[in-house]
Amino acid sequence: MSDKLKYTEAGKFEETRFEKIHNVVFDNSDVASIEVAKEIADLIKSKQSANENCVLGLATGSSPIKVYEELVRMHEEEGLSFKNVISFNLDEYYPMTKENTQSYWYFMHEHLFNHVDILPENINIPSGEVKQDEIHQFCIDYELKIKEAGGLDFQLLGIGRTGHIGFNEPGSHYNSGTRNITLDHITRVDAGPAFLGIDHVPRVAITMGIGTIRKAKRIVLLAWGVNKAAVIRETIEGEITSEVPATYLQRHDNVTFVLDEGASTELTRARTPWLVKNCIWTEDLTLKAVVWLSQKLEKSILKLTDKDYNFHGMSSLLVEQGSAYQLNINMFNRLQHTITGWPGGKPNADDTNRPERNTPARKRVIIFSPHPDDDVISMGGTFDRLVEQGHEVHVAYQTSGNIAVSDEEALKFAEVALALNGSDANSKKIVEDLGSKQEYDIDTPEVRSLKGLIRRKESVAATRYVGIPDSQVHFLDLPFYETGRVKKNKLSEKDVSIMKDIIAEIKPHQIYAAGDLADPHGTHKVCLDSLFLALEDLKKESYMDDCWVWLYRGAWHEWDIHDIEMAVPMSPDQVLKKKQAIFYHQSQKDGVMFQGDDSREFWVRAEDRNKETAKKYNSLGMADYAAFEAFKRYHY
Ligand code: F6R
Repeated sequence: MSDKLKYTEAGKFEETRFEKIHNVVFDNSDVASIEVAKEIADLIKSKQSANENCVLGLATGSSPIKVYEELVRMHEEEGLSFKNVISFNLDEYYPMTKENTQSYWYFMHEHLFNHVDILPENINIPSGEVKQDEIHQFCIDYELKIKEAGGLDFQLLGIGRTGHIGFNEPGSHYNSGTRNITLDHITRVDAGPAFLGIDHVPRVAITMGIGTIRKAKRIVLLAWGVNKAAVIRETIEGEITSEVPATYLQRHDNVTFVLDEGASTELTRARTPWLVKNCIWTEDLTLKAVVWLSQKLEKSILKLTDKDYNFHGMSSLLVEQGSAYQLNINMFNRLQHTITGWPGGKPNADDTNRPERNTPARKRVIIFSPHPDDDVISMGGTFDRLVEQGHEVHVAYQTSGNIAVSDEEALKFAEVALALNGSDANSKKIVEDLGSKQEYDIDTPEVRSLKGLIRRKESVAATRYVGIPDSQVHFLDLPFYETGRVKKNKLSEKDVSIMKDIIAEIKPHQIYAAGDLADPHGTHKVCLDSLFLALEDLKKESYMDDCWVWLYRGAWHEWDIHDIEMAVPMSPDQVLKKKQAIFYHQSQKDGVMFQGDDSREFWVRAEDRNKETAKKYNSLGMADYAAFEAFKRYHY
């Protein structure tokens, strides 16, 4: 077994006082996946040398993709053979044909089986094609087959936000076996984007049971990104309950959860380390603790007392700082200094305690927007202020966003074009293409181009409204996005060089970018990676010495208060103006395709979120504003 994942009994260490499942946290999911792949490869090899089969339980979904990629690499470059592997997949949608690109059969072949030397007869995946009245027998046979193979030596798992493992949704029994099951609504919401809308997600699946999984000799569960943080905390620290089926794993004696930082953020030891162990009180940790205490006790910072600190695991902080009085003032000031109505810096004002420099008074700014609308949704108020305060603001839309335009919307525009010019062959083709499109068909290039155009024109309407000339609006159409499918290509040199070119052309003093880390495989994260790689290459250029990078958060999350380094207040009028700018993105209104489980429209979410930040600042003791947009600086 890889040393890094070595199993140690939970509860033995101070930092696992709250934790009932052994877990290891890595800086990022790629490094973690490589370690897991190593463990699997070592197991396969040790079984090989003992002349035995290696029985692997395998998972699908976004979490194990990099593990499979690494196993394929080991096969190709290091000769790792899968000849002795017998695999059993956890689950499959029902009904589902093998050829369907959404099937788990397709997934496993695309990511692993087509690229290694596993014997086809050793591959077992629950079938989405068996007749309804044969499912019961099929499930019994599946269980038997696992048993006959000698049981699972190793089970790889992901976890759903419902706490499902396999598709054992809340309510699943501890001893359940392979069976069919109705998918939870949240699970279907999460699968929605892959199926281009929740209505296309199957309602039923066949899954190995909790009892089947539990019998595996070794279990490794993967969880990446802050979207999983809450369920990871419940699973690792909560009571065992059928409400969160993954908690059953607390009873297994050889299980390791492999997490990235995002997925670990809600664990007590990450969220409130002072409750778990002695801390080194850096300034950032101090602020985090003080904000937490103030929120917990519902007291403004300046009202916190020595006793409050002592009662909440922070007596060592108090000893270091002398008294609550001084500590409170320091942290209050630090937060106060994040607030500015001058996001581009205030000319001719002392900037010692301001988030931005006062020079140059007129800055060149690039707002990178992953999709054509994140700019106004996430920082419409700040965008407006920057323009109003005379800065040269450019917006660069990183992707075309074409996949998020519905067929109905595209048809409407194509029909309008056709009504204007009945002989326009392109519009005619688009109308025909959309008319004959089947459920899982990829859009034709013409349809994609129309969908992209719709988003472009909406964006230009919004940027004109905010007041920048069209020449300062750039559409990068990064190639990684242009697959016509939800699944995107990997970031390439070409993507990064497009990002570098625009930065080199504008030579900005400020860059704003979406700092979303919620979904490590999502478009926002890939767009952010493209920026980081571009910055890495460009940082030697002298014009970059004067360029600061500010990260905003997309439609789904906001920075925690202690992370915020610039908070830009908005007046009620600006809140209205921002809403109007979002309205220009009409194709994204009313039940958009990638709504997630939050049924509010984007403008409502943005408004609620900005109000909420203002409310939090206010309850910590800061002035009472209508709304705030928040940013964190990125140092490259
Ligand atoms: C997949 C499976 C599911 C997933 C879980 C997480 O075979 O059984 O339990 O592991 O839904 O999915 P991702 O990894 O896509 O977040």
